[in-house]
Amino acid sequence: MPRILAKETLAPDVVRFWIEAPAIAKKRRPGQFVIIRTDETGERIPLTIADADTARGAIALIVQGVGKSTHKLNRLEPGDTILDVAGPLGQPTHIEPGMRVCCVGGGIGTAVVYPIAAGVRAAAGRVAAIVGARTKDLIILEREMAAVAEPCIITTDDGSHGRKGLVTEALRMLFAEGYEFDEVVAVGPLPMMQAVCAVTRPLGVKTIVSLNPIMVDGTGMCGGCRVTIGGEQKFVCVDGPEFDGHQVDFAEVAARLRAYREDEATAMDRYRAELAAPQR
Ligand code: NAD
Ligand code: FES
Repeated sequence: MPRILAKETLAPDVVRFWIEAPAIAKKRRPGQFVIIRTDETGERIPLTIADADTARGAIALIVQGVGKSTHKLNRLEPGDTILDVAGPLGQPTHIEPGMRVCCVGGGIGTAVVYPIAAGVRAAAGRVAAIVGARTKDLIILEREMAAVAEPCIITTDDGSHGRKGLVTEALRMLFAEGYEFDEVVAVGPLPMMQAVCAVTRPLGVKTIVSLNPIMVDGTGMCGGCRVTIGGEQKFVCVDGPEFDGHQVDFAEVAARLRAYREDEATAMDRYRAELAAPQR
């Protein structure tokens, strides 16, 4: 079973794990993900491969504790094992040598956009980055992004670090300053990706977003991750996770995510009660 080699807290409830997975580390390309299970009864959790170290035979996964499964995962420690790690899954990011890309990461979405930025840079491309969060403590991967992007603009909603404001305000500023991009890649909460698309659509700048619906099998069979792109039905696990943001039916994606919210809250309440109960 894959072993956890290292664990580091990046922000409150956000952990970076390095996990032993030599075959995946060797094969994975930017934009791909894995589906993990911590135990036989556990939910399948799709997670972007945030980085890979082929020398160590390890992949990095960045996990935000948002529900029962991710909180349980974040309690694991180096030396613990994970039941299974399946991947790499999904289509790799389309990267052309020398392309000019603006990578926009909103909150935990920065964990998804970082490997794309690093991949563009490795292909002799030019990367500008905007990394935003509500407040300073929630900014992740600032050092890593700054190593592959120029400029690397940090924004916080409250102004506690970097520029005060939303990532879209920094994006508008870059366009106003005359920056030109072949593509903008935006990853973060749905309203943020939609807002980035609203900035780029009138300018005619291609915009890629990464979707993270509920996934079950990860093979295109169960239909759990179905989305509508340009009027056509697609499955995020096999056709994505990246799609042309100007073609995404965001309202449908949001509605499908909302459908599971009550079940997730109930599972989380039960889990909290289990943790609080005295051990016998
Ligand atoms: P958040 O809500 O704190 O937002 C992070 C930043 O995004 C903000 O600081 C702001 O700059 C920008 N932003 C948010 N809403 C915006 C809007 N309406 N207009 C312009 N900019 C906006 O982010 P969080 O709490 O880290 O995000 C959690 C969400 O991200 C969850 O809903 C989760 O499902 C989603 N998520 C998405 C992916 C993905 O692959 N798309 C991956 C991980 C998490
Ligand atoms: Fe089942 Fe995508 S997770 S079709």
